[in-house]
Amino acid sequence: MATNITFHAGSVTREERNTFLHQKGLTVWLTGLSASGKSTIACALEQHLLQHGINAYRLDGDNVRFGLNNDLGFSEKDRNENIRRIGHVAKLFADANVVAITSFISPYRKDRDSAREFHEKDGLPFIEVFVDCPLEVAEKRDPKGLYKKAREGKIPEFTGISAPYEAPAKPEVVVSSHTSSVSECVHQIVQYLESQNLVK
Ligand code: PPS
Repeated sequence: MATNITFHAGSVTREERNTFLHQKGLTVWLTGLSASGKSTIACALEQHLLQHGINAYRLDGDNVRFGLNNDLGFSEKDRNENIRRIGHVAKLFADANVVAITSFISPYRKDRDSAREFHEKDGLPFIEVFVDCPLEVAEKRDPKGLYKKAREGKIPEFTGISAPYEAPAKPEVVVSSHTSSVSECVHQIVQYLESQNLVK
């Protein structure tokens, strides 16, 4: 734990950034089971926003675990730390007026709530999107063969099988990836962002 440190505020206000950059920063936080479609939807959303001139940047589960979080596994404690770090990284992007799009299982409600809290405390919107997909459907998709391995006991603490997933209680958006197409899910998210005047 660091001691004797002081936060140094810059001289550029959020209003100035919003005015000069013509874009607000925020975090779109996708949460859902493995193979629920988080990454696919996040990629399509990033594409859509960029094509409309909005600076969006995606932080993805597997990818971040190759670098920044390569010291973390899948115990509850490591997942807590994974989400804590990602939450702060997303907040930095949002603070720089980027639309940060995160796609992590983020199975624990308290971790997502904490990320929301430290965004909102600094006036940055946090939009939780539940990528709703029944376990049976995700398990049937099994694009990486992980559910099969988890059922065989070869992967411990696998979300939905031997580790919990706590669905959001009050997400801003729920997309049903098993009944809606990827573009329908993206449309739903963008419509919400527009309705809240977060993107134009
Ligand atoms: S978490 O729970 O938010 O910290 O997980 P995350 O950083 O999103 O990483 C999830 C991806 O890691 C792979 N993987 C596992 N997932 C769940 N449980 C266990 N035990 C596990 N081991 C490896 C898996 O590829 C996840 O990717 P997605 O895209 O979600 O399928």
